[in-house]
Formats: sequence, structure tokens, C-alpha cells
Amino acid sequence: MDSHDWLDTECAALEQAGLRRHLRTVMSAPTGTIHLDGRDVVLLGSNNYLGLSTHPQVIAAAVEATQVFGTGASGSRLISGNNERYTTLETNLATTKHTEAALVFSSGYAANTSIIPLLVGEGDLILSDTLNHASIIDGCRLSRATTQVYQHCDVEHLKTLLSESAAFRRRLIVTDGVFSMDGDIAPLPDIYEVATRYDAMLLVDDAHGFGVLGRDGRGTVSHFGLDGESIIQMGTLSKAIGALGGYIAGRHALVELLINKARGFIFTTGLPPATLAAANAALDVMRSSPDLRQRLFSHAKRLKTALTHLGYTLLPSETQILPVVLGNPQRATRIADALLAEGVFAPAIRPPAVPPDTSRLRLTVMATHTEAEIQQAIDAFATVSQDSVSSSYS
Ligand SMILES: Cc1ncc(COP(=O)(O)O)c(C=O)c1O
Repeated sequence: MDSHDWLDTECAALEQAGLRRHLRTVMSAPTGTIHLDGRDVVLLGSNNYLGLSTHPQVIAAAVEATQVFGTGASGSRLISGNNERYTTLETNLATTKHTEAALVFSSGYAANTSIIPLLVGEGDLILSDTLNHASIIDGCRLSRATTQVYQHCDVEHLKTLLSESAAFRRRLIVTDGVFSMDGDIAPLPDIYEVATRYDAMLLVDDAHGFGVLGRDGRGTVSHFGLDGESIIQMGTLSKAIGALGGYIAGRHALVELLINKARGFIFTTGLPPATLAAANAALDVMRSSPDLRQRLFSHAKRLKTALTHLGYTLLPSETQILPVVLGNPQRATRIADALLAEGVFAPAIRPPAVPPDTSRLRLTVMATHTEAEIQQAIDAFATVSQDSVSSSYS
């Protein structure tokens, strides 16, 4: 026995519960087909929704920025890491989002765990959707505010909680715009109305709506025609934008306070210039390419319709995220493995990423999938459903 034995015990417990995760090494760029475990497989598990991480204009911008500025920022932004590409990108983001200002963080995770503790603290109240992303949950914990969780997208429940919140100093409602594991869209107009009525701030995490929903891909807030300064918008540059980083878009004063107080902004090194330049170029492509969004939604519709006909249970997603719910983690893993054997990578998502008993395949399509790749995926699901879903894996 030594003091580290508990590590092996914990790994064994994860294995036993069907919850042990393993890293896979992908040997190619995240296009419609990737090279994995020695062969080509159709990729249904990427957040590179518009395929921008391999867009020639985006790659050229990253290469040029590397040649000019080198590979790393080599300092935090408040010291020496704030190169000129940050200014360009943040101006572009604020213009895209129709806000006074925007601030880029090194990840979406850092953005959420920075903004929430800035907005609220002890004596304040956070109202958080039960299916919000882990980075929101961690931001709530860090803030030390009281957190109350409302039922998923349940505005009546939210209203009830707010009606009992008079004793708190400030109120913050926080919700994903598009829910990362379910693919459904938060009822923002109703939430916004309730927020206004009860004098609450509203923070929308648009990690999965940005680039995909709204005019020119501006996101979930734009999708509902709610553009403006009263909703604080958080998003990522790591999904549809195909780069890395998170951002907050809102008022000048908010950005000013974040620069001065947000620990996840201050105490970390700036992003590489190539990443900033890539994100900026990708924003331009995103706004000027409605065809990419059309292809994305056409693929999503085709895959969803085909899988439903095959007898799979899909959650009622309206977006590019298509969850096939399978129940226990072992079953989700077995079906993911069976699909991989058929040449399709459809990752199994298990607790704690999703609630217990809702393990699933989280399928995501990309604008850059070909029709043949979507067909290959459908064929694989047809084979697996006959062999595994309805009989031996139930
Ligand atoms: C809803 C949501 N918010 C925030 C994040 C964190 O973003 P990032 O991957 O840029 O850290 C993610 C992605 O993992 C997400 O799905």
C-alpha cells in the first residue's frame, strides 16, 4: 500500500461504471472524414460546424500572423501579450454581435469562469438552467453567489424563483443559447422578458449558436431578433469559428471591468497570434457564407429523418447537434464502438457530461460533409440498428 493506491482504485471504479474515458489520437484535420486508429472514418463528433478550421482563407491568415508575430504571445495581455491582432478581432466581434465592445479570453471555459464571478458574488442570486454547460456551473461555484437551478427551459419555474428573490442584491439569469448536449434552443424572448420584469441581468452562452443561428450566423440572440446591449453574450472561437478562445460581448464598462478584475483574463498568457488571425478571418467567412449554414442544416435534417426512420430515439433538437439517447453508459459505448467498426465516429457522451441514464451519441454534422459521407453514416446506423440496438444491446 502506498499513498497513491487510491488512483488505481478510482480508475477501476470508473471502468466498472462504464464511465472510464480514453484519449483517441486523430491523425488528420477535422473534415468530414478523419484518420483514426489506422483508417478513415466519417466524423460525426466535431464542433467545427462550418468546416472553417481548414478553410484556405483562415489557414492563410494564421500562417501570415505567425510569420509576422511568431508562434506565441509570450506574456499575459496586461503585460506584453496584447498584440494588434487582438484589437482587430475584438472590433470584428463587437461589430458582428452589435455590441459596444468585446473581449477575448483564452477559452470559453475561462470566459464563463471569469464573467460570472465578476457579475455576482456573496449576497447575489444566480438562476441557472439545469442543463447549462460545466463551465457555467464552475463559474457559479467560483462566484460564491447563491445558485438556484431552474428546470430546463422552464420560464414559469424561473419566474417563480425570481418572484421570491427580493432579498438578494443582484440577480443573474444564465443559460446556454443552444444546449451543448441536447441541441435545443433556449426560449430567449420569454427569458429576456422575465429578466427585465425582475431587474435581473441575462448572460447567454452561445458556444453552439454562434456561426450557426441568426442573421449571418451572429448567434442565438440575433436568431430571436434581440440584438442589443441588455443581454451579455458569451461565445467561443473554438467551435464554428474553428480556432480557439472565448469572448464576452457587451457594454464598454463591462469589458473595462473584466480587463481589470477577471482572474481568468489577467492571470494567463495571451493566445497565439495565429489563433487570433484565424478567428478573425473565420468571422469574415462565417458572415459572408450563408451557403455553409444551408448545407449544415440540410445535412442535419437528412440525418435526423433517416435515423428516426431507422427507429433511433433522437431528442427534439432544432440544430446541428443531434442526440441519440441510449440510456446507460455501457450501451452508449457499445453502440459507438459498433458504429466505429462500420466506419463512423459517433462519440458516446456519458455522465457527468449528461444526466444519469441519458447517455447518448452526440452526433454533429458539418457544412463540409459530403452527401456521400452522410449516406455512409446512415448506412452504418442501419447495420448497427439491425445487429445491435433492437436485439442484443437492449
Ligand atoms: C456551452 C459551452 N460553453 C462553454 C464551452 C467552453 O468553451 P471552450 O471549449 O472554448 O473552452 C463549451 C465547450 O466545451 C460549451 O459547449
